[in-house]
Amino acid sequence: MANSKYEYVKSFEVEDEIMLPNIIVVNIDGRDFSRFSEMHEFMKPNDKRALELMNDCAKMVSEQFPDIIFSYGFSNEYSFVFKKETNFYQRRASKIFSLIISYFSSVYVTKWKEFFPQTEMRFPPSFQSQVISCASMEVLQAYLAWRQRECHLSNQYNTCLWELIRNGKSGKEAEEILKGTHKQDKNELLYEGFNINYKEQEAIFRQGTCILKTEVQHIVKYNKDGSPVQRLRMKAIKVHSKNIASRSFWNDYLCLCRELGQFAEDVNKIKPDYVKSFLHGSKMMPSTWIVIRIDGCHFHRFSDVHEFEKPNDAQALNLMNSCAVGVLEEFRDIVFSYGVSDEYSFVLKKESQLYQRRSSEIVSAIVSLFSSMYTIKWKEFFPQKELKHVPYFDGRAVCYPTSEILLDYLAWRQVDCHINNQYNTCFWMLVKSGKSKSEAQNYLKGTQSQEKNELLTQLSGIIDYYNTLPLMFRRGSSVFWHMHDDEKMANRGNEPVRKCCKVVVEHCNIIEKSFWEAHPDILGEKLSCWKPLRCTFPSDSHHLTRRVTCCDCEVSKFARYDNLSPLEQPSTNCL
Ligand code: GTP
Ligand code: MG
Repeated sequence: MANSKYEYVKSFEVEDEIMLPNIIVVNIDGRDFSRFSEMHEFMKPNDKRALELMNDCAKMVSEQFPDIIFSYGFSNEYSFVFKKETNFYQRRASKIFSLIISYFSSVYVTKWKEFFPQTEMRFPPSFQSQVISCASMEVLQAYLAWRQRECHLSNQYNTCLWELIRNGKSGKEAEEILKGTHKQDKNELLYEGFNINYKEQEAIFRQGTCILKTEVQHIVKYNKDGSPVQRLRMKAIKVHSKNIASRSFWNDYLCLCRELGQFAEDVNKIKPDYVKSFLHGSKMMPSTWIVIRIDGCHFHRFSDVHEFEKPNDAQALNLMNSCAVGVLEEFRDIVFSYGVSDEYSFVLKKESQLYQRRSSEIVSAIVSLFSSMYTIKWKEFFPQKELKHVPYFDGRAVCYPTSEILLDYLAWRQVDCHINNQYNTCFWMLVKSGKSKSEAQNYLKGTQSQEKNELLTQLSGIIDYYNTLPLMFRRGSSVFWHMHDDEKMANRGNEPVRKCCKVVVEHCNIIEKSFWEAHPDILGEKLSCWKPLRCTFPSDSHHLTRRVTCCDCEVSKFARYDNLSPLEQPSTNCL
């Protein structure tokens, strides 16, 4: 990434590494799936096609990420267990859960037609994910036993509920009948009332599904004499088992014991509270701006495979922008977003209480929705191109305590956009003019912005060529709600009320203060302290703490010179 004076904002990013010897489990869960299943008329209480679609997605996830050694799922949830020693993305929690949820969401969309050939997908599915760090094998065992018990209990309850409804009871009446009933009562109700032997129900409903990695011999090529050359490969297989947390099940699969360890003894009593104590989603600091930044994974390859125009493909950028619009429409707490290349930053308002500010829920919901929209909308933007690879993104959440720092963050991204775009434009023009890639790289080494502009003018024969490029390439895209006064309220003589009208995509200069002054609704607060501060620092003592005062609004604060943001730092003639 390029250097700029705004780079200090990176120091607000926090590390979230899961330390060894914790076992990493990623749990994913359908978001608003009761609506999704209603809209797509899933069968009640279980829709086998929907479950098999989930299973296929999980299988693809476990093949894509080789460190996932075991997965278990039912209904609209799945848990992915990584091998103990994994160093996947340096064990960083947000990277891991976001990549998995994103990949899963995109695959869900791509595979939909295979399982629901007659049903149009009416809105993008999305999921939430979190990492559960299991401190020991005992915790992992308790977690798996707990999830499988949930599968059984919810399936048994729902089977009864829907039989009662099918036989004339209202939803409320059916719930009333089931209140306080035990396992045995429900089995009897099913057997005596509806002639259903619960134990004979399909295993996929009662027990959920496991995805396991097994070693198989795979022929990679043939020798000259025709004999096969074989290698051991890990293959994902689907299994149903009555008790996935039992020693006998675990010991049947060598790779589980090898990569995770063994269970000391079988669990007799499940203590959900014990397991829940390991599910602590960390919350973002209150009253701070939350930025969720997502970034395409391996988009270098993805753009090559799909033959994106170099250095900028307008359709690819429009597709990203269209997904960002969808994200803003879905999450009303997002006040602004900025995108360039394969990345997008979403800014949530300071007071946002979305998912009680739990970072994993916010990041995963946004990255998941974005990914499934990207996959759904692909055809709209690339009608002639088949989607050959699964597009997926990682995500992270960062808090910025003041508007000034938030704007420095956005300026950092826009400066980066400009620097990269200018470099890439030169690079590809040199390549087109006949230089090899490494010659072009060497040619550009150490060149300043002005030199690059001159080079572009010279190569293209067009004066000030760089500034003739589309604004979207040079400035990136800003996506935000266009606001207007509510005329109805104004006509009634009330104080004018600002109303969201629609989400717009613009290519503006967000480094300049004038943009924010022209759109005071976005941040919803008066900005102060932007201009160089009137300062009393002696020029040689940057470490002294002094009172500094904003030239504009006269607000003062105590600060050390080197703790001020670059925008706040006094210009040299001030010193
Ligand atoms: P990771 O994010 O680390 O997984 O790597 P990445 O391959 O996604 O690269 P990175 O995010 O650093 O950079 C984005 C890459 O996407 C660029 O280097 C380009 O190769 C590619 N890309 C993004 N937008 C365009 C585009 O409009 N046209 C072309 N040709 N490539 C693009
Ligand atoms: Mg990327």
